[in-house]
Amino acid sequence: MKGLIAGVLIVGGLLLQAPARAADTQAADSNLAKYSVGTKHSGYVLASPATRAMEDDEFQNPGMLWVETGKKLWSTADGANGKSCHSCHGDAAKSMKGIATAYPKFNPRLGKVIDMEQRINACRAKAMQAKPYPWESRELLALTAYIKNQSHGMPMNVLVTGAAVPSFEKGKALFMAPHGPKGLSCASCHGTLEASAKLAATQDQGQTNGFPAYRLTWQTLGSAQRQIQDCERHISVAPHPLGSPADIDLEFYLAWRGNGLPVETPAVRK
Ligand code: HEC
Ligand code: HEC
Repeated sequence: MKGLIAGVLIVGGLLLQAPARAADTQAADSNLAKYSVGTKHSGYVLASPATRAMEDDEFQNPGMLWVETGKKLWSTADGANGKSCHSCHGDAAKSMKGIATAYPKFNPRLGKVIDMEQRINACRAKAMQAKPYPWESRELLALTAYIKNQSHGMPMNVLVTGAAVPSFEKGKALFMAPHGPKGLSCASCHGTLEASAKLAATQDQGQTNGFPAYRLTWQTLGSAQRQIQDCERHISVAPHPLGSPADIDLEFYLAWRGNGLPVETPAVRK
């Protein structure tokens, strides 16, 4: 009898909550389709409806605080030249639209593949004669998130040609190679492109289209490099330093592997 009453009350409670929850879930679900392209799935697809709703709402997405900071930094003069990013690149909404879809990218002047963080620091060092920002500093995350956010929704389009091929091959080999006592590779958990459709139901594919991303477990925004480092611990590899050549190779391979997925920065993940 008591149970029955409790049951009725619970049903009543659920009914009361139903409309609000349904609205959130519907909005997040209508976005789901955008984040799967063929057998490729962004981590968004496996995120809970609440986490997806947080990402989708500009005012709730904590990553947008970094984007706002990045916007301010864009126009702030720094360094011996007294220049800001804006001095040379103008309105980021125009000049940076689509740029992040091609990163990491081979830089002919530097003779290597660089990611967006390194691109920003190259401009600081050379064009502005300012100090490079440290990895995971608020400033570097903010500018990276701001620039990537200018490509929000645009498909990733990383090119692997010519001199970029060796870096790609090294990244791919690192992703596939078994390590540690358990013989785990990145692919053991995140799948290969061929097996991805099947694996997507249990573990995300290790896509980077949402980075820098706000991880609820980190309680902050973090770069793709930080995520790679975290995952290196999973396979008992002593984590490489942030921005090490090996991890840039991995980031390059991961970004290419996600070609076609929309840029999602700043993503929210658990
Ligand atoms: C003095 C002028 C100057 C300033 C100031 C400057 N840049 Fe640049 N930036 C350039 C030039 C020139 C290039 C292209 C050079 C190259 O490809 O090596 C470039 C390239 C870039 C690119 C790559 C574009 C692409 O097509 O791949 C990004 C991103 C970028 N800058 C961001 C920034 C940011 C962020 C700042 C401020 C922290 C900044 N830049 C400050 C001159 C500048
Ligand atoms: C033992 C399983 C496991 C292995 C092996 C593993 N990962 Fe992960 N990876 C995870 C889990 C779990 C997450 C979710 C976040 C977390 O817990 O760090 C994740 C998240 C990621 C993400 C973020 C995806 C997103 O959308 O949020 C990337 C990128 C990634 N891993 C790359 C790698 C790379 C590169 C390697 C190899 C060095 C690797 N992972 C090895 C389990 C693994």
